[in-house]
Amino acid sequence: MSGRRPFVGGNWKMNTDLASGEALARTVGAECVPGLGSLDVVVFPPFPYLQSVGGALQGSAIELGAQDLSSEANGALTGEVSAEMLMDLGVAWVLVGHSERRHRLGESEALVEEKLTMALESGLSAVLCVGETLEQRRAGRAHEIVRHQLTSALHRLSADFAREIVIAYEPVWAIGTGVAATASDAREAHHEIREFMSSRYDSELASGVRIVYGGSLVPGNAKTIFAELGVDGGLVGGASLKAGDFLSICSAATIGIAAG
Ligand code: PGA
Repeated sequence: MSGRRPFVGGNWKMNTDLASGEALARTVGAECVPGLGSLDVVVFPPFPYLQSVGGALQGSAIELGAQDLSSEANGALTGEVSAEMLMDLGVAWVLVGHSERRHRLGESEALVEEKLTMALESGLSAVLCVGETLEQRRAGRAHEIVRHQLTSALHRLSADFAREIVIAYEPVWAIGTGVAATASDAREAHHEIREFMSSRYDSELASGVRIVYGGSLVPGNAKTIFAELGVDGGLVGGASLKAGDFLSICSAATIGIAAG
């Protein structure tokens, strides 16, 4: 066994409303009770619903995550949400560097790095998202791009923080398209990321850090992808909005994770 605890995140993005978000959390929470499975399950609802979703998850084994945070601690930053505010609401995890923020909202590598550092220094756990676009993949630059994103995001991060992060490999062309990476593409990318972590830190840290796959994960492909060497779970977008699909991806993660 790899010894790494599987991780499954449900990124709800800008979806649900107050009532449907709460209902979704209650349904998945009722199935994920403490002690049931040896995996981390986190849901990432929109900011305005964090508190009510957190309430609906009470008593379940599912942790609460936020989709973003400010790189600053506080101050005159209209519309921003700080790490401390998130923690006030019981948030334990945060997504950093999601491709929709990088590509659609213009988030720079420098900002991703600042947000990651802010999250970890504040006591939040972080999922760092990386991945190449279709053009970059076609140009044969997929690994180079991911290495570059990791180099930038981790350039001043200590090993103590780095060993705790979850890295989500999310090829941009697979997100929300219905076209997931093939299992072997995922394995190869995860291997490259682990190699990077070994050279940036050391082999012991690299073999312990969790790397999950994201991009059009559904119950029908999760088991195959999770069975690949070095894939420690997934970050789920669209399918996390359907309780049954999300739960079935979670159960695929508890049984399907390969050693190595
Ligand atoms: P998707 O999104 O599962 O809808 O492709 C994944 C993600 O963006 O994390």
